[in-house]
Amino acid sequence: MTDDARPWRVLLVDDDPMVLRLMARLLRKAQPSWTVETAERGAQALEAMGRMPFDAVVSDLDMPGMRGSTLLEVVAERHPGTLRLIHSGSVQLEHNLEAAAVSHQFHGKPAAPQGLVAALERVHRLRSTLRDPRLQALVARIDRLPSIPQVYERLLAEMRAPEPSLRNVGRIIAEDVAMTAKVLQLVNSALFGLRSRVADPVQAAAVLGLNTLRTLVLGLELFSGFRGDDVARRHVERLWHHSTAAAGLARRIASTPRRERAVADEAFLAGMVHDVGKLVLWSALPTEYAEVHEAAFGDRRLLHDVEQECFGAHHGQVGAYLLALWGFETPTIDAVGWHHRPEAGITADDGFTPLAAVHVADALVHRHDPGSCSAEVPIDAGYLAHAGLDGQLPVWESLSQGEDALRETG
Ligand SMILES: [Fe+2]
Ligand SMILES: [Fe+2]
Repeated sequence: MTDDARPWRVLLVDDDPMVLRLMARLLRKAQPSWTVETAERGAQALEAMGRMPFDAVVSDLDMPGMRGSTLLEVVAERHPGTLRLIHSGSVQLEHNLEAAAVSHQFHGKPAAPQGLVAALERVHRLRSTLRDPRLQALVARIDRLPSIPQVYERLLAEMRAPEPSLRNVGRIIAEDVAMTAKVLQLVNSALFGLRSRVADPVQAAAVLGLNTLRTLVLGLELFSGFRGDDVARRHVERLWHHSTAAAGLARRIASTPRRERAVADEAFLAGMVHDVGKLVLWSALPTEYAEVHEAAFGDRRLLHDVEQECFGAHHGQVGAYLLALWGFETPTIDAVGWHHRPEAGITADDGFTPLAAVHVADALVHRHDPGSCSAEVPIDAGYLAHAGLDGQLPVWESLSQGEDALRETG
């Protein structure tokens, strides 16, 4: 994305001066233009933040005096636009889950701090695509996204059943954009120390297990039903249908010709969350976003073009920034960020990517449901040719024919 990002100010907090020195040295080496400050206690960190703004805070969890989770809770309240990362050496899952709930990302100790540096750099890069500081702060403030009320109620009913079925819980999660995003964020964080990434929400639920899911859903209340006015609710429901259809079709596209299961899972995930930026905008700016929709549908213009004019960024960029904040990997972030303009996301080693699957699936799903878009969503033939995928388009188009493909959610 753009490289005009200004240098960041980062605050590192840890009661171990050795860890602080090591992390500061690594970060300064990676980003010599950034300002890196350190604090050994939570209170000292808050004082520093009161004196001047910081773009990111990386805090240890177990510290004398104020715990890292308490510090980040206060930071979320006083400085909602600041990126909050927890760097925990604790082995207590419950403490770690609480910390994960108040931070954007959870990192583990003594894992190599290079992962932390890379995460900071990724958010730094993505934040610059949202030029409006108000929008940057609004996205950073979001710690949970709303689910479709009916799906949320079904999840609660299953969790409260005398003998809940983990498989049913996983399937319910896989039907919802917000739940899928949150569960995959957590399962792929250092909280669970998995060796390979999980992209399938049903598998993610199985890894978390019922006890952890109970803590997340009933204890920490990480999910909630959408509460907006009728207009917003109708749009969010339509978005839900569109996202599940795009995810199902993206999975089928990724499987034609036959590819590894992981490729299909990544395509499904990217399809599910590709319009997560719209969910952010409906949650954070419902009145303005309703006006943007009216203008786009009234003038038969593409929604992302009108968003760009009104917010200085479109829903792809908003969603990509949220997923970067939440620690998602670059292929998913790119698929979300560029799904309407894939040529801008081309890299040298492009071939079949989640971006390709989502770009095509999104356009084809809209083609079968013309009322869902304000203007025809084009497929970028030049991009597909560049990626060597243009020959496959007729097959993919045939996959999208008929109701079955649109109902398929994988
Ligand atoms: Fe979109
Ligand atoms: Fe879409």
